[in-house]
Amino acid sequence: AVESTLALIKPDLLADPQQVKTVENEIQQRFKVSQRKQVFWKTEEAQNFYQEHQGKLFFNRLIGYMTSGPLIALALTGPHVISEWRLLMGQTRPPQMRVLKPETLRARFGLTDTRNSFHGSDSVASARRELAFFFGPDSYDRFLRV
Ligand code: CMP
Repeated sequence: AVESTLALIKPDLLADPQQVKTVENEIQQRFKVSQRKQVFWKTEEAQNFYQEHQGKLFFNRLIGYMTSGPLIALALTGPHVISEWRLLMGQTRPPQMRVLKPETLRARFGLTDTRNSFHGSDSVASARRELAFFFGPDSYDRFLRV
């Protein structure tokens, strides 16, 4: 089925504009980018977005990282785009991905288990919530229509 998903390019990657350009070109070649936005999160926004991780050992580190600089939010739309984007991105841990899936974006660009450069929604339900967070209520349905 055609889906939309939220892809984030996290602050560590934005520190290097040349790498951002490389990544965004690769993304555009593979996926339809329905909307794009650069934001600089306040602490409360990061805590709200990552509320499912509240209480975990890495939570404060994650919030500090995600508020350390601007990030880019992309709405991607296409057949099976939720899993397709997660396949291109790779799993959470860049050092592990460099061994298992060296062609993935996190293997190529990620720094550490925290500073892993990318995010992708993990289901239709979270894509709806996360796209609404950046692009307004019902943005998921809007992206599917156009
Ligand atoms: P992601 O898997 O997309 O969502 C949770 C994020 O928390 C993860 O990316 C990392 O950026 C961050 N994180 C920090 N430390 C850890 C850890 N030890 N295990 C998993 N995720 C971590």
